[in-house]
Amino acid sequence: MFGFSYIVGALSLASAVSSTGILLPLYSWPEDNTTWSPVYNAAAAHPDILFQVIVNPSSGPGDTTYPDETYIAGLAKLNSYDNIQVIGYIPTEDAERDVSAVKADISTYSNWSSYKAQNITVSGIFFDEAPNANDQTKISYMQEISESAKSSNLPTVVFNPGTKLEDGSAAEYFKAADLIVEFENSYSAWTSTVPANDLSGGYYSKAAIILYSAPLTADYETVVQEARGMGLGAAYLTNSDDYKTVDSLVKVAASFVQASRC
Ligand SMILES: *[C@@H]1O[C@H](CO)[C@@H](O)[C@H](O)[C@H]1NC(C)=O
Ligand SMILES: *[C@@H]1O[C@H](CO)[C@@H](O)[C@H](O)[C@H]1NC(C)=O
Ligand SMILES: *[C@@H]1O[C@H](CO)[C@@H](O)[C@H](O)[C@H]1NC(C)=O
Repeated sequence: MFGFSYIVGALSLASAVSSTGILLPLYSWPEDNTTWSPVYNAAAAHPDILFQVIVNPSSGPGDTTYPDETYIAGLAKLNSYDNIQVIGYIPTEDAERDVSAVKADISTYSNWSSYKAQNITVSGIFFDEAPNANDQTKISYMQEISESAKSSNLPTVVFNPGTKLEDGSAAEYFKAADLIVEFENSYSAWTSTVPANDLSGGYYSKAAIILYSAPLTADYETVVQEARGMGLGAAYLTNSDDYKTVDSLVKVAASFVQASRC
């Protein structure tokens, strides 16, 4: 009897600590300390979920050494939660953007850790508009900027091609990244797809999905269950189509809790 309940306890703990996290594009400007409060509240309420939060002051870090004061306050608050990892947004224009401009953005984010008054350290980079092509020039470009981020104290590297990597390229792209968004599309596109056909087999633990235009009445729980069942690295759903609101976050977090009970 004692042994049995011990095992049940161990199993439910193991399933509560899911490896599937939330990858949240947080593209709103923190007008005041309430704009991002749904994020703070969700992180506080769900300490067992990792929130990888993508910040994006100006389609990248912007051209000043540090972001604006209100932005600094928001970043410091995000960093005050152990289960939030702040990730900086950088566009790559399908690996066609001048690589020195990408490296300058990396350097700016990296340097935020030198800000003394508050902790605005960034823990990684989200490379947006990433290529999915089986093209050695593009693969090398992504490898180069990933190494640049990692050697600049930005250890977590995310690529966002938003679509499945072309056949033959997955091994190299996944080697260069910690997480790759292989499906960034509408909720309705996801529900009409066969997930196994849209994500590279063998890499689910490093794959992520971001579903936009997911009505607040949609079945978030089934998506989160699928994501967890596949062992995906991260998942997110939002009712917005521009990532400028976080209205859906309460529902997303609740779906993670529900899914962990199944
Ligand atoms: C928000 O900012 C205002 C003005 O700076 C401050 O008085 C208030 O305590 C802050 N609230 C929170 C929850 O941090
Ligand atoms: C990093 O920050 C320091 C100030 O703390 C500044 O002097 C330096 O120019 C910055 N470097 C970059 C690359 O922004
Ligand atoms: C600042 O925040 C980062 C990321 O959360 C954390 O790793 C680091 O230890 C913090 N630094 C200080 C000085 O608290």
